[in-house]
Formats: sequence, C-alpha cells, structure tokens
Amino acid sequence: MKKFSLNVVITAIALGLSLNVLASTTLKLSHNQNRAHPVHEALQFMAKRTEALTNGELKIRVYPDAQLGSQRESLELVQKGALALAKSNAAELEAFSKPYGVYNLPYLFNSKEHYYKVMESPIGQNILQSSKENGFIGLAYLDAGARSFYTSKPIKTPADLKGLKVRVQPSPTAVNMVKFLGGNPTPLAYGELYTALQQGVVDAAENNIPSYTLSRHSEVSKYFSLDEHTMVPDVLVISAKVWDGLSENEQKALKQAANEATVKMQALWVASENKERESAIKQGSTFVEVDKSTFKAAVIPMYEELQKTDPDTYKIVEEIRKIQ
Ligand code: GCU
Repeated sequence: MKKFSLNVVITAIALGLSLNVLASTTLKLSHNQNRAHPVHEALQFMAKRTEALTNGELKIRVYPDAQLGSQRESLELVQKGALALAKSNAAELEAFSKPYGVYNLPYLFNSKEHYYKVMESPIGQNILQSSKENGFIGLAYLDAGARSFYTSKPIKTPADLKGLKVRVQPSPTAVNMVKFLGGNPTPLAYGELYTALQQGVVDAAENNIPSYTLSRHSEVSKYFSLDEHTMVPDVLVISAKVWDGLSENEQKALKQAANEATVKMQALWVASENKERESAIKQGSTFVEVDKSTFKAAVIPMYEELQKTDPDTYKIVEEIRKIQ
C-alpha cells in the first residue's frame, strides 16, 4: 500500500501536479439565488479565497438556483453532514435555532451601521455559534439589505395590507409581524413564490430589491413600497460534522475567507440594489416612498408581547438597542 502511494506521488510529481492537488478536499455549497444575484458573486469570491489561503488544499464548489434543494432541504442535509455548506438567512434559520429570531423583528435597527455593528458584536457572533448542537455553525453574515412589501398596489400604511395574503418565510417572528401589521401571513418556500403570486395563491410578498427583481417577482407585483420593515441577513452555515473534520489551518482559512466575503458583500450589495432598482423601473415597476411611522406604531405592541412571552429574547433586544 505504502509503495503504491509512493508511486502515485512520484507519478504525480513527474506529471507536474503538486501534492496539494492530490490531497485536496472539495466542499459543496448550496444556495437558492441565481448567478446574477450578488450573493453568488460573494460566495464565488469566498471559494477562491479559501483555495488560495489553503494552497489548493480546500476547495468550494458553489451550486446556485436551489440545485441541491430548497433552503430548508439544504439545511437538513447540512445537519446530517451530507452537504458541507449552505447559504441561508436568519428567517429560515429561526426554526432551527431560536436566537436568529431577533433579526426578524421589525424596525429593530436604526440604520445600516447599527445593523452591521450588531452582527459584528458578541451578540451577533454568539448567534452564529448558537446552533452547534443542532448540527451546524454560522460562518459569516452576508448583507441582504432591507425587506419591504410588494404587490399590485402601493402599501403606504398597514391598513393597505388588510385582507391581503402576504407570503412570508417560515419564521414565527415574520408570521407574527404580518399579523400585527394587519395582513394574513402565508409561509411559503422562495422557489414557489413566483407562481403563487402569478396565480393569486398569495397577493403580496416582502423582500429586498435584488431578490424582487432577479427572481422576476417584479413581473407579477408592480409596486414595491419602501417601508423597509426588517433587515434580515443572509448566513453562511457549515455542517458541524464537516467543520470538526477539518484541520485547524483549514478552519482558520475558511473563517478568514468567510469574513472577507462579508466585507466584499457590503459593497456588492449597494451596487446591486441600485442596478436592480433601475432594471425593475425599466420593466414597469414603481418604487413607492413610504412614511414608516404608521408601520412602526403598529409593531410597538409586538415588542410588548415579546417582553411578556419571551423575556430572554427581549433581553437581547434591549442589548441591541444599547449598541449605537
Ligand atoms: C432573501 C434571502 C434568501 C431567502 C429569500 C426568501 O432573498 O436572501 O435567503 O430565501 O429572501 O424570501 O425566501
């Protein structure tokens, strides 16, 4: 056996291959956006950086378009160790690890800077670590801007949501938020939403601008109302089994590449938001400026309820409010 391996190595060197190529590991990464979405570029960047930082020892292959399954299905594979990496978001993850729920609370952040600071703070970093017992670890946050409502009419106040079936992600907090705002929340997978909007299974949805345009929801929902109720980050997660099987060096490189992707995504995001907004306008969408005060007022009782029913999460809310 030893002799055989030695022969392979000698042949490889003779062929000009490096030993790293022989020893390299490729991790699969699943996400549900298409190749034009900024998150795809950020993840490709991360893959390149991981490869460079490990001299080709560790590679990542990115599978877009939910080719390896929906966000939920991918996460279940990650938990089992059947898939190494998945890009999810804090709304989807709330059902798997409760602390992610705070990101789904409306008007929690005062500004983009506040949102970034919270993710970088011990609160944000502890949330990434919160799911180890559930089979995965958060490696990095990726900016996903602010989410707003879209449908076939402007939504200027919560009263405009009355009677509308509003698609939400499978997040208990998102469901509750839409209830407080007066709509009928309908959880649905992202991949089913275009047809659901087209066929009237749901009347409205909510998302950020790049996802609205690039998923072509803009074809079927012409009014995007800029109420910006939540800032829900995307999260890159790794299977705990896969993580534990990596060397210390590989873990370090992966973490560094993920951190670099976080920074890169902030710039990619701004550019994509501008570009996709222009593109939606050209295709006939209207972006509606909204006075957010009526929305903010409508969710005050949601926080009062949280304080009574879930004091632990409410404590995190208070900590987040202290960070400026
Ligand atoms: C955003 C987010 C996705 C998520 C989607 C959704 O686009 O980045 O991770 O799947 O919203 O609304 O389902």
